[in-house]
Amino acid sequence: MSGVPQQAPQKTFYLETFGCQMNVHDSEKVVGTLIQEGYRQVETVEQADLILYNTCSIRDKAEQKVFHRLADYKKLQAQGKKFGVLGCVAQQEGEKIFERAPHVSLVCGSASYNKLPEMLVQLNSVGDTAPREIPPPAGENAGVWDDAGFADSSPLIAHGSSRDSRLRTQDLVRITGLDDRQTDKCFETEFTARTNPHRGYITIIEGCDKFCAYCVVPFTRGKERSRTSDSVLAEARQMADLGYTEIQLLGQNVNSYKDSAGKRSFAELLAAIGEVPGIKRVRFTTSHPRDFGRDIVCAVDAVPTLCDHIHLPVQSGSTRILDAMQRLYTREQYLERIAWMKSAKRDLTITTDVIVGFPGETEDDFAQTLSLLDEVGYDSVFTFKYSPRPNTPAISLEDAIPDAEKARRLEVLMARQREIQIKRNKNYIGTSHEVMVEGYNDSRAQWIGRTSQNKPLNFTAATSLRAGTYAQVLGTGSFPNSLIGQLVV
Ligand code: 5AD
Ligand code: SF4
Repeated sequence: MSGVPQQAPQKTFYLETFGCQMNVHDSEKVVGTLIQEGYRQVETVEQADLILYNTCSIRDKAEQKVFHRLADYKKLQAQGKKFGVLGCVAQQEGEKIFERAPHVSLVCGSASYNKLPEMLVQLNSVGDTAPREIPPPAGENAGVWDDAGFADSSPLIAHGSSRDSRLRTQDLVRITGLDDRQTDKCFETEFTARTNPHRGYITIIEGCDKFCAYCVVPFTRGKERSRTSDSVLAEARQMADLGYTEIQLLGQNVNSYKDSAGKRSFAELLAAIGEVPGIKRVRFTTSHPRDFGRDIVCAVDAVPTLCDHIHLPVQSGSTRILDAMQRLYTREQYLERIAWMKSAKRDLTITTDVIVGFPGETEDDFAQTLSLLDEVGYDSVFTFKYSPRPNTPAISLEDAIPDAEKARRLEVLMARQREIQIKRNKNYIGTSHEVMVEGYNDSRAQWIGRTSQNKPLNFTAATSLRAGTYAQVLGTGSFPNSLIGQLVV
């Protein structure tokens, strides 16, 4: 299907992405879809006919970003540009976005991306780049253009002396794709515009049915739905044929994957992808402790291409708070999974996410989170202050923690974790690791590399290297968040 007439000048779009890797990869598929529909991607808002934001609403700050952007560029509406809001804020706020930002024409949640081609056709059928004449409505209030809801979008422009002729501007179009939890389809497309030629994402499962008390995701990304493992494997093989050597499997809860054809477990799918000829590295994110089976560690043990790194968000070290968060595991059960990882044949790095200041979190609960950091010895921790989100069960909980106290706990937590990382990273000095070369940093005169354990290892080399190749590097120094080294020749 194509929305572009033969002789029409090619339409252009600008897309900015906020948020997680799922969003980054969704954007690659959205870009592919738009290009397929005849659009050309441009680098600046000013060059674009259509301006899209793929948004994140996991925390309040993330959500506000899109409204700032929309306000910043509102004036460009006068030049005939159209605006679209995609992703989690679109799904969460829905048609309210039109009230807050009347220059927006398209609001589309991720569960509706399959319908983007139709929506683009709609967008174009009522809005060419120049205002156009339309016949008068049949009755007094006929036609969407007189709809009260559109009041502040200056819908009608008086035209010459004819009282019956009207012009309308393209900015009046209001198209929504808000399927939310009804959809059981994944956004599968053969038109993915991957931005990195060596390392690429594959989404294997979308949505979330876990409903953790703080989390907006089950409301913004719809119900949990998995692709067939055959379709995932076909995509992996296709990527390998194109020269990709690293694949990153994505899912809100990637290890909750259930082959919709019932053929392979998550661990079996991991192993099968790791065995695709040409694939040297397989990563997966994000895992949920509840669905984390020992078979995943066995697969990592058995298949060398599966990376030596597991990200397992804990959120809190206190069983009482985990219970309030509706995570459905205890500190002890979480630590059991960590013990499985630590008994792996290879040295796996372990990273996590932690929320501080969840309603009712006491000093003692927080102390338990700190002690968990020591007990596990994480290689990296993503830390967040609890942010109340609309629709979530936690929004009505009492005992909110003041922001200053959340900020204090965050600082204490980050300082403790920094010490842990300083200590852990020193162990890499004097040991050799394979890195994927990601590029060159001119100002530091260093090659940029990443180990299988997902550690940035930047290094010097006497010879020139190519991005996407693999090299053996000896660690010579360490920082809290990265390592430095020398190419082994
Ligand atoms: N407030 C703070 N952090 C949150 N996260 C998810 N929801 C919230 C929230 N309401 C964090 C969790 C999750 C990560 C992606 O974002 O730690 O694992
Ligand atoms: Fe959110 Fe919990 Fe689902 Fe993760 S598992 S996306 S934290 S509801």
